[in-house]
Amino acid sequence: MKDKPKPIHLKDYKKPDYSILETQLHFDIFDGKTLVKSKLKIKVNEGVKKGAPLVLAGEELKLLSIKLDGKELGIRDYKVTEKNLTISKVPQEFILEIENEIHPETNKALEGLYQSGNILCTQNEAKGFRRITYFLDRPDVMSVFTTTITADKKKYPVLLSNGNKVEEHDSEDNRHFVKWEDPFKKPCYLFALVAGDLGLIEDKHVTKSGRSIALKIYMDKGNENRCLHAMKSLKDAMTWDEKRFGLECDLDTYMIVVADAFNAGAMENKGLNIFNSQCVLADPASATDIEYQYIERVVAHEYFHNWTGNRITCRDWFQLTLKEGLTVFRDSEFSSDMGSRAVKRISDVTHLRNIQFVEDGGPNRHPIRPASYIDVSNFYTPTVYEKGSEVIRMIQTMIGRDGFRKGIEKYFELYDGEAVTCEEFLHAMELASGLDLTQFRNWYSEPGTPVVKVRMNYDESSQTAELIIEQSCPLTSKAKEKKPFYFPFSIGLLDSKGNDIPLELEGDSAPETTKTIHISKAKETFKFKNIQEKPIPSLLRDFSAPVKLQHDYSKRDLAFLLAHDSDPFNRYEAGYRLATNELNKMILGVQKGLEHQVSEALIEAYGSLLKDESLDEAFVAEVLPLPTITALTEEMEVCDFDSAHSAREELTKSVAARYETKFLELYEKLAQEEYKIDASSIGKRTLRNMCLRYLSALEKQEDISMEYNQFQKATNMTDCLAALRLLCDTESKEKEEALKVFYGKWKHDPTVINKWFAVQASSKLEGTLKRVKALGNDPAFDLKNPNKQRSLYGVFAQNLVRFHDRSGEGYVFLADKILEIDKFNPSMAARFAVLFRKYAKLDVVRKSLMKEVLERILNTKDISAALYEISSKTLASTKN
Ligand code: BES
Ligand code: ZN
Repeated sequence: MKDKPKPIHLKDYKKPDYSILETQLHFDIFDGKTLVKSKLKIKVNEGVKKGAPLVLAGEELKLLSIKLDGKELGIRDYKVTEKNLTISKVPQEFILEIENEIHPETNKALEGLYQSGNILCTQNEAKGFRRITYFLDRPDVMSVFTTTITADKKKYPVLLSNGNKVEEHDSEDNRHFVKWEDPFKKPCYLFALVAGDLGLIEDKHVTKSGRSIALKIYMDKGNENRCLHAMKSLKDAMTWDEKRFGLECDLDTYMIVVADAFNAGAMENKGLNIFNSQCVLADPASATDIEYQYIERVVAHEYFHNWTGNRITCRDWFQLTLKEGLTVFRDSEFSSDMGSRAVKRISDVTHLRNIQFVEDGGPNRHPIRPASYIDVSNFYTPTVYEKGSEVIRMIQTMIGRDGFRKGIEKYFELYDGEAVTCEEFLHAMELASGLDLTQFRNWYSEPGTPVVKVRMNYDESSQTAELIIEQSCPLTSKAKEKKPFYFPFSIGLLDSKGNDIPLELEGDSAPETTKTIHISKAKETFKFKNIQEKPIPSLLRDFSAPVKLQHDYSKRDLAFLLAHDSDPFNRYEAGYRLATNELNKMILGVQKGLEHQVSEALIEAYGSLLKDESLDEAFVAEVLPLPTITALTEEMEVCDFDSAHSAREELTKSVAARYETKFLELYEKLAQEEYKIDASSIGKRTLRNMCLRYLSALEKQEDISMEYNQFQKATNMTDCLAALRLLCDTESKEKEEALKVFYGKWKHDPTVINKWFAVQASSKLEGTLKRVKALGNDPAFDLKNPNKQRSLYGVFAQNLVRFHDRSGEGYVFLADKILEIDKFNPSMAARFAVLFRKYAKLDVVRKSLMKEVLERILNTKDISAALYEISSKTLASTKN
């Protein structure tokens, strides 16, 4: 690297010197280049020292001309560097006109204006707009945008931008012209432009107050019917937000465009969302149930940003969780209401623990509001998003749903149309609820997952049960005298029949079956009265706070909770703990080369789960999968992926062997179901495929035939892919045959073929890396496309057993790919570099192998700042 990139600090935030009151953009799209003309009405802000220079951001731009108040500037009047355009002398208020040239066709960073397939589209969050034209590219500069576009009419019949189309006409040379006006002030990261020859589906939504909103989804022609599910999701989301938060869509037209080349999942540009094809397109033959549910969620998420993100936006990028954490919370509530709340909670928490807890204990840990960063694109993380959402959820748990809604109303009453910080959000919540959130603010400034230890003493003579709750957090060097966290802790106590005991604290009025107590001290004791027998505690119900709970549960208690707890999350949790404890013992056995007897309590617990007909299938399907290798190795001093994998396989086999007939029976019974996309049918398919997964552990030839049979007969992608995935873990002619058939059918479909890459990259077999290498040369692969990178290289690096192969070949391979990708798409390269996150917790051999590749990355000339940030933090995460 030339110079080590320097971090930017939150504490150095300064208000902008200038405002951009109006922005007029004009684009002339030609083959090979696009001309951009911008006309900005700029004004100096109050209190700014006279003569402050105007510094605009701009990257990869070819500057053609600058005019200030109509007069062309000479080269002495301004300075251009790789990153900025500085005009040293400007009046108090003026019109700035800039012309520049850009090259969307060769833009493979996929930020700014770029080509995806045959369309041109934009991605400007966080800092893409500076690749379109010179601007104050920061979210606290909000402006009204007018956009005009000209392009070849045949190649680009559809020309879109934010807001309303107010003019269009044909011009000479087979070109045409359109003009768009966005009535809302917005930061430039929400600007969007699309040009292409696109198909369209249309619908409308009538709001509660009677306004009609035109809904339009644009896609590659031929994919129209694959967008119907997204359209339905959009209407559901609009209806839901009106009902739950009283928030109506403020636009006349709401558009979504599908793009194939996209770094993220989707983007909430005002009135013109742009979506990764992977997050929109679905029909039964090509999309799995999980994808159907994900599409519903992403569509809702981007729509919800229209209020939480667009109407009120972030003052600076350190505040990202203000819009992302809150909007994830909103989309999660929406999904809960659309399907099963319990199942959604379980899958959210599973995801949090498998991804966010790992990040929070690793080299790239940071608080939900980071204090510094080198490249903000590295901070679109599970911490900012998922932990951020949990933090919002805790507020709702403490002040109640109604209180929370009042807080949201207050937030818009006070700050609509502004760019604010997390402080303003908390302030609105405090005003509306009267709850003091001073200590709660720790969640915004401290990284790490707090550990909460609970002990219970039951005293028969006084009929009281006492809970002693202690919290601690792995300390960062700076936060030695950190105050404890403030959080809601929900508790129930079960009697010996499995019923909830009404809970009364000293001085309490109404007894409740679940008590939510507010924890604020390092150690606290709560005494419940009138408890007639020794209860079994159900702790942290509904996962009321993002912490690691420690309590000495016996196997019997866990089996009991799994069978009886009225809190569905804790039923799941009991099964999860039971399995984790067992697996941890088995792992020790594997490490010592000992035989292990699987405990009867566990086998029995799984048996009752399978036999309990009162449970819904989706719930059982959530409880049956064993803890992941990621979760099992997370708690290890030194990660032992191989033993975790063997123990997991062994336990799966024991359960499968004991209940083989039951699994077969269920598999057959659930096959009768008709294919529908609703929570209940999805639950049944998930459970059925889970049965097949257990059976496959027995490694019988009949099971391979069963998988192959399911693959062949499947009428939908869920069943097809579940079978193909299991086949990919076998050395069989059926596997090769199925892969060939799948490829023949989908090789020309850019979204579906990604699944074919992914299932092969996730195979547990030893030859996986070799296969992945070969697949990189497949004609259906395209290194420039992030979906392809993710499905092959991303999936491989998350296949822990194969990626962490003792030879170190997995590390070398990933590093090679990262360096290749970094040359054209740094933010994707950095995202893959995160997958070296286990560095500090590897054994000596693996650690030195990974060290070599991390050093190689860091010693490579001209790596990006984004890649530098992740790799250097990873390498620094251990001293030896
Ligand atoms: N604002 C983001 C999109 C984004 C992410 C832009 C990173 C630039 C960099 C969008 O609202 C978002 O969060 N999308 C998520 C999906 C969502 C359901 C959490 C995504 O893209 O994965
Ligand atoms: Zn978002």
